[in-house]
Amino acid sequence: MVRLSEDEAAMLGGRDGAAVAKAMDLLVRYADALGAQDFVYTDNVAGVPGSSPKWVKDYYAADGGDYRAVFSRFDLDSDEVVDVPVMRGVSCHLQGGMDPDLWREMGMSEEAFANFQADEAEVSGHGIQVLKTCTPYLAGNMPVLGEHCAWMESSAVVFANSVIGARTNCEGRESTSAAMLAKRVPNWGFHLPEFRRGQHSIDVGVRVDNIFEWGMLGYFTGGAVEDAIPVLDGHIGGPSLIRHKHFGAAAASSGGVEMYHMVGITPEASSRAAAFGGQDRGERFGYGKAERAAVYERLNSIGTSNAVDYVMLGCPHAAIEQIAEVAQMLEGRRVHSSSALWIFTSRAVKVKAVAAGYVATLEAAGAKVMTDTCSAISQAVPPGTRVAAFDSAKQAHYLPAMMGIEGRFGTTQDCIDAACTGRWKGTLGQGALS
Ligand code: F3S
Repeated sequence: MVRLSEDEAAMLGGRDGAAVAKAMDLLVRYADALGAQDFVYTDNVAGVPGSSPKWVKDYYAADGGDYRAVFSRFDLDSDEVVDVPVMRGVSCHLQGGMDPDLWREMGMSEEAFANFQADEAEVSGHGIQVLKTCTPYLAGNMPVLGEHCAWMESSAVVFANSVIGARTNCEGRESTSAAMLAKRVPNWGFHLPEFRRGQHSIDVGVRVDNIFEWGMLGYFTGGAVEDAIPVLDGHIGGPSLIRHKHFGAAAASSGGVEMYHMVGITPEASSRAAAFGGQDRGERFGYGKAERAAVYERLNSIGTSNAVDYVMLGCPHAAIEQIAEVAQMLEGRRVHSSSALWIFTSRAVKVKAVAAGYVATLEAAGAKVMTDTCSAISQAVPPGTRVAAFDSAKQAHYLPAMMGIEGRFGTTQDCIDAACTGRWKGTLGQGALS
């Protein structure tokens, strides 16, 4: 049984109201299932609190079919409907289901949009920051080294643990919603130093020096170590936020990687010994030319047609540098009449991209810059899409299978060329920039 502090016992006993008591009750059951000894305090929670499509509200029709019903019964797994107060911890909402302006282009109905707006009013009314992104760290939520967080979204979790050195497990909707009220999560897994040590080695034998290469290395890494913690060493070129973003998202997709170490690069890996917490252990995997070629082939294995009718960029959500790069690539060019180009980002980054003139350039070329969501989350692609192209290994992994379409994976330049010509000419990474 998890040990409770006096404060936690009081919350469980109802001192702070029914919703906080229900949140503590859920967290106690969760901690006991994990075998956690106690709780850790958190004041940085990222989830999808209370948001739901209309059919979920309909499911709880007998309880009122509203935000309150969904938050109580679904999020808090409560046996009764309780009033939901303003969240007590610093809380933010991750990605949602549609762009707030371009929802019609995404094929969403008036009813779905009205539901989206109603949920958003509830979310902000409950003190939750409407970041609506899978990259909260690019939209104002940047934890610090050693900070205990409760985050959902695998690509954000692996970034927080590995690149920042913050501490979070890959939480779910229920535990994040409860943590927003109780400011606690079980002290287990990545909150504990002994769970953060490397378990296997990846020896990188080819130069990995742009987001395309970092994405492929991430995809290989996840396939090799599955859900363990890899320690990468070797020919890894200079790190950048967007390289880490693509590496981690890919590793969390092909496997279940929630944390990685790169020797001399990530904050808990000043040396191999530091990364492993002592001696090397586990298996050693080599990443060379043959492995790189196999990953490329695997990510281009769904389908045979080179007639690309949709190019999707921004998985994880694009950083401002990526939007600037695409705007530059599109200068003087136009998206082909047989193709569409959608670039996904957060609202915060789009504001910067508008101010810098990038969005105007992109729109003039026929591209759309969308926020809040992505094709995989919203299950939305332009009408008639049969073949889509991506510069993200994560999206190439998920979207073709989800939507029953063909997929192509390459560099950002490959994708822009495909968008402007309607044809795929994969170059296996030649000329990649970032
Ligand atoms: Fe983000 Fe969608 Fe990719 S939510 S990480 S852009 S699958």
